[in-house]
Amino acid sequence: MEAVGTWALLLFLLLLLLSLALPASRARGHLPPGPAVLPLLGNLLQLRPGELYAGLLRLSQKYGPVFTVHLGPWRRVVVLVGHKAVQEALGDQAEEFSGRGTLATLDQTFNGHGVFFANGERWRQLRKFTMLALRDLGMGKREGEEVIQAEVQRLVEAFQGTEGRPFDPSLLLAQATSNIVCSLLFGLRFSYEDEEFQAVIRAAGGTLMGISSPWGQTYEMFSWLLRPLPGPHTQLLRHLDTLAAFTTRQVQQHQGDLDTSGPARDLVDAFLLKMAKEKENSNTEFTEKNLLMTVTYLLFAGTMTTGATVRYALLLLLKYPDVQKQVQEELRRELPEGQAPSLQDRARLPFTDAVLHEAQRLLALVPLGMPHVTTRTTCFRGYMLPKGTEVFPLLGSVLHDPTVFEQPEEFNPGRFLDAEGRFKKPKAFLPYSLGKRICLGEGLAQAELFVFFAAILQAFSLDSPCPPDALSLQPAVSGLFNIPPAFQLQVRPADLHPSTQTR
Ligand code: HEM
Repeated sequence: MEAVGTWALLLFLLLLLLSLALPASRARGHLPPGPAVLPLLGNLLQLRPGELYAGLLRLSQKYGPVFTVHLGPWRRVVVLVGHKAVQEALGDQAEEFSGRGTLATLDQTFNGHGVFFANGERWRQLRKFTMLALRDLGMGKREGEEVIQAEVQRLVEAFQGTEGRPFDPSLLLAQATSNIVCSLLFGLRFSYEDEEFQAVIRAAGGTLMGISSPWGQTYEMFSWLLRPLPGPHTQLLRHLDTLAAFTTRQVQQHQGDLDTSGPARDLVDAFLLKMAKEKENSNTEFTEKNLLMTVTYLLFAGTMTTGATVRYALLLLLKYPDVQKQVQEELRRELPEGQAPSLQDRARLPFTDAVLHEAQRLLALVPLGMPHVTTRTTCFRGYMLPKGTEVFPLLGSVLHDPTVFEQPEEFNPGRFLDAEGRFKKPKAFLPYSLGKRICLGEGLAQAELFVFFAAILQAFSLDSPCPPDALSLQPAVSGLFNIPPAFQLQVRPADLHPSTQTR
């Protein structure tokens, strides 16, 4: 017992010494200024878990748009706040800022594999391949749009099935958007009643919650301490295991019935064909691990991002019924009766488009941005950032930058319209980030958001069992992701063409 106590004391002293040595390293690298670092705690006093983003914004008021913090004693991060700083780094010095940083909550599973977590040559090859393969499979083309239109039709039918009763639309929206990515990845769509599919959606939701929760934020600071201890990360690992096991089963099925003469039916096929082509290359990045980790991340991103954004847009329309009315009037005026909304209609539906963009801006789905690292020693605004410096580009602060968006906390779709009522997009509208790591699913997400939103509003009038004043727009959880609050929705058929219906 005594020996254990002595070892614990020695370990504590060692950690203390190591963390005391840290502040000096900031001066060596000519890093941006920041708050004093406490031994073992880093900047925990300024950055309380659960409000990491708010804490970073508070620090930027004191230290300016570029500053340094310590998440825990050793994780040193340079933070970029506001459109100008993020644009100058990720946009103007794109190559230098193109490395992927750490997500302690997920690193144990992905371990530098797959397109999201990879760096260097591995990332370059996986990114190029994934982009081209998804494009060949119809992403950004008419075929891809048809898949989205067919899925939204099923979603509309499922909404109809509620017959005016209040329901939480989260699961159905996540399933519908997931089906689109499942069709690209596995060539499959799943019934909304399929229990295995529902378990996958719940696992993706649990992963999102786990990495964004206050505990997830604490883990980003103290993973070295928390990893060996029991805690919520065992639950997160279970969710990730469910996603990975589902992906593995799909890959195994594809391996069983792959037609080696092609063409690829989906992304898994395309990857397997590429693996076969490169099997003599001992340095190939087209390995089973990279296949599984690329597909698992795409499944997660395709399930949790667009569904949550559409959900938030619907919530805003419940909160602002006049805006809902204006969207429906535009749809009635511009779309011929019985015609499903398509991307080609976008130019004729500037108000609908503006509402959707304003919802995306206000939500700021990824407020902290995803972590980057510098790929070489980088001179930025007079500071010298050593190779490997972690960088958080705060996308929430770009989307809510008061120098670009007047009264940024207000819901005002008009900011996306010019004086003639045409759609305009400010340069600071960057929910997908920018530069070399810009979201790989941006085109798909934009197409899904528009077609889903327009089709739902074309089919239904939306109501809430609560009065608009009682609806909160505050995220249920705000961390790596802003997760919109849950709410009850009621739908009834929209009276879009009253004149023709009464004839
Ligand atoms: C509203 C929807 C979405 C938003 C707001 C969004 C946002 C983002 C952001 C902020 C990043 C980090 C970029 C950076 O590192 O600076 C990212 C990366 C990524 N996203 Fe999305 N995303 C969305 C939907 C999707 C979808 C539908 C997919 C794919 C099916 C996807 C796949 C990816 C991938 C693979 C990356 C990593 C890219 C790389 O590291 O090279 N995203 N996304």
